[in-house]
Amino acid sequence: MCGIIGIVGVKPVASLLIDGLKRLEYRGYDSAGIATLEGGKLARRRAPGKLFNLEKLVDEQPIGGTIGIGHTRWATHGAPSENNAHPHATAEVAIVHNGIIENFRELKRELEAAGRVFTSDTDTEIVAHLVSLYIGQGMSPRHAAATAFKRLQGAFSLVLMFSGVEDLLIGARRGTPLAVGVGTGEMYLASDAIALAPYTSSICYLADGDWVEITRDGFKVYDVDDQPVERAVRQSHVTGAMIGKGNFSHFMQKEIYEQTEALTDTLNAFVHPSTGHIALPEMDVDFASLSRITIIACGTAYLAGFVAKYWLERIARIPVEIDIASEFRYREAPLPEKGLALFISQSGETLDTLEALRYCRRQGQYILSIVNVPESTIARESDSVLYTLAGPEIGVASTKAFTTQLSVLACLAIAIARARKTVSTEDENRLALALRDAPSRIAQVLHLEEQVRDLTRRFTDVRDVLYLGRGSSYPIALEGALKLKEISYIHAEGYAAGELKHGPIALIDESVPVVVVAPHDALFEKVASNVQEVAARGGRIILISDKKGIETIGSLATATLEMPEIDGFVAPILYAVPVQLLAYHTAVHKGTDVDQPRNLAKSVTVE
Ligand code: G6P
Repeated sequence: MCGIIGIVGVKPVASLLIDGLKRLEYRGYDSAGIATLEGGKLARRRAPGKLFNLEKLVDEQPIGGTIGIGHTRWATHGAPSENNAHPHATAEVAIVHNGIIENFRELKRELEAAGRVFTSDTDTEIVAHLVSLYIGQGMSPRHAAATAFKRLQGAFSLVLMFSGVEDLLIGARRGTPLAVGVGTGEMYLASDAIALAPYTSSICYLADGDWVEITRDGFKVYDVDDQPVERAVRQSHVTGAMIGKGNFSHFMQKEIYEQTEALTDTLNAFVHPSTGHIALPEMDVDFASLSRITIIACGTAYLAGFVAKYWLERIARIPVEIDIASEFRYREAPLPEKGLALFISQSGETLDTLEALRYCRRQGQYILSIVNVPESTIARESDSVLYTLAGPEIGVASTKAFTTQLSVLACLAIAIARARKTVSTEDENRLALALRDAPSRIAQVLHLEEQVRDLTRRFTDVRDVLYLGRGSSYPIALEGALKLKEISYIHAEGYAAGELKHGPIALIDESVPVVVVAPHDALFEKVASNVQEVAARGGRIILISDKKGIETIGSLATATLEMPEIDGFVAPILYAVPVQLLAYHTAVHKGTDVDQPRNLAKSVTVE
């Protein structure tokens, strides 16, 4: 979602702000802007659309100054026009904002009654007017900002720059993240460490409710009651190289290839170096006496959880409920005593997931999370965290985060099964071995890329695609359809293969490709019958299976992708890869914006 950067520096700041915004592009946006102080006066440039529009504008009409703020906006209140783009400003203050000010209507009425005139449809502009109003009443910028923050409801982060004040930016964090970057003679504020990677790796993450003043010499943090507080400065591991594309055409392609390494790193944290056994960090929860696991997440992370439901129920014999966070958080689900609530999130900031976590905490659940960003809010608010070591994921469509989430979930399922004595030692060893083998198998699967590229040439003109799977391949079918929709804008549906005849079979004709995710596992024969049903109606089948599967029903398919033979337990991890490649190459053929698909955001920090 929206990206924020602020710099109090010594060099001309406009191009640095735009560079920082480029590193925030991955979050998803539809307009952008910067503001600086030129000789103490607010100067501002804003443009709808992609950053090159803003860059062109700044080239044509440059702005100077060594202090400034910048923003990429993902529209919530008001269209992505120049007027609605941030920074929003009055004569006294310029503001960038991520999140939603929920009481903006009421504040707007109050400010309009006080004679303030608004020029945008945004909730953000009210903050600029509120601060201006207080400054007009004689308050200092600090006092005005702190007073205004207390009037705001909702989840947001903000950065404010004041007319005539050349050495001060004020940031505030409530709900959505904001980090301080500590430089030498320069200080920064940003939505995440990625934006600051080339400038500094010394990062201080604000706690919820904090606000901060930054000047060239340092920063001071205040808590929600305006009391000075110390917050630790940490070294970020995000480097400039990590957020480059290397030799790949897109971040998504690079991240698909990084899966072998990301899985190896992630698994190494849970596999005992000498015994090869799966061992989780100490947790204050007794898996043997758990009554139920409730899994909650959004998007692709939810589908990782859906695979885990199959694993946990089958091998750990524990009831698992799974829901998307936006539904779960409002349905007032009664939760059992001795229940464990499991949250999965790449960013660790998805607002619905976070609020669902807070609900589960109120209901007395043990909170376990799987996240990729260690400093994230979800990580901080959990009783225990299992980290995916995927590194920064820049492509909006999640790939390596998904398969690393699956690998952590597989370790969790094995560990819970062992604690509950529902798996024999022999089976446990077999599952652990299959899992440890997964990264090298992924390397094999990546060799299918050329074949997938050729195959997707036939996809570009289609209107709809169906994805089918059974058992733990069903969530992979859903993930395949989600990926295709997200980046190629082709309508796709994932369906449980057995449910086909209850509706989607009506869609099947020779114009609708049907991608079947079908490892030769215990449910293969059932899927084979469903494939026959599709073939009988002239459907164009793309079969993703192994040698045995292809020998059995490959003749019914228009195209086949042959996967290595593997233990059915790890099949979802491996079969995620060809569906990622299918979506990726379809999007490349169509010429869509693979890494920043329209309307989508990487980290969804509004409801
Ligand atoms: C957005 C992203 C998806 C992601 C989902 C959940 O929709 O585009 O790729 O799966 O949010 O994000 P999280 O950070 O919680 O995993």
